[in-house]
Amino acid sequence: MQRKKVDIGYLQARKKAGEKITMLTAYDYPMAKILDEAGVETILVGDSAANVVLGYPDTVPVTLDELLVLNKAVRRAVQYAMVIGDMPFGSYNVSTEQAVTNGVRFMKEAGCDAVKLEGGGVMIERIAAMTQAGIPVVGHLGLTPQTASMIGGYRVQGNTADKATKIIADAQAIADAGAIMLVLECVPGRVAGKIAEMIPIPVIGIGAGVDCDGQVLVLHDMLGINAGFTPKFLKTYAKLHTDIGKAVKKYIQEVKSKKFPDAQHTFGIPEKEFEKLTD
Ligand code: KIV
Repeated sequence: MQRKKVDIGYLQARKKAGEKITMLTAYDYPMAKILDEAGVETILVGDSAANVVLGYPDTVPVTLDELLVLNKAVRRAVQYAMVIGDMPFGSYNVSTEQAVTNGVRFMKEAGCDAVKLEGGGVMIERIAAMTQAGIPVVGHLGLTPQTASMIGGYRVQGNTADKATKIIADAQAIADAGAIMLVLECVPGRVAGKIAEMIPIPVIGIGAGVDCDGQVLVLHDMLGINAGFTPKFLKTYAKLHTDIGKAVKKYIQEVKSKKFPDAQHTFGIPEKEFEKLTD
């Protein structure tokens, strides 16, 4: 069957049919191409790029311009998946006007299909304004890493009735504001399941249990590139830190021992031509 580009209608149809939606992060051309070819439906150019590929301690320092470069690379690679640009801290927190202006930059300059921003409360009117401006928005509730210091750090959110009630109310408001999808991070599975059942838009979980409408993981975490990062919710599907390390060690050993390059990897010159040189 001919593959079609993933759009909002496709995602809503998956939710209606009870078919899980897949999302992974990507930050560069080759990885995004692999994900798209493999059939992942939505690709998030996460601000997790800050710590995962740019070496910052957390997601706060990464700038809009840095993320736009990564978004453009991913956009060039992807034919089918929905590309979602994650708005960095400070690019939408100041005002509704700022949120709309910078949301437009993700769409116009990087060619994103949608943008994601973190938080409920005051962010809800921003999501509504962006939606009215024609920017498809993905919400993000629960553990919101950009404001981790305000919510007690990197820990499960919504594990008391009061806290869960607030997340549920924000989720409903985000859906009412016109968001196309909602990411729930580190929320008890039963609370996330309740939200997925309650709101009409797809709910994508990370550390939020199987009852969400889909799942997202950070690509470098699920590929085992960040060897020391082992939160409860993470399942690793490869051991690339070990495998890449082994490959590089083998290369070093073969270069040092002159095993590489061998004849197979070396260009030749006809004997007669070479003789002319040595005369
Ligand atoms: O930046 C990111 O990778 C994210 C996911 C964890 C959802 O926001």
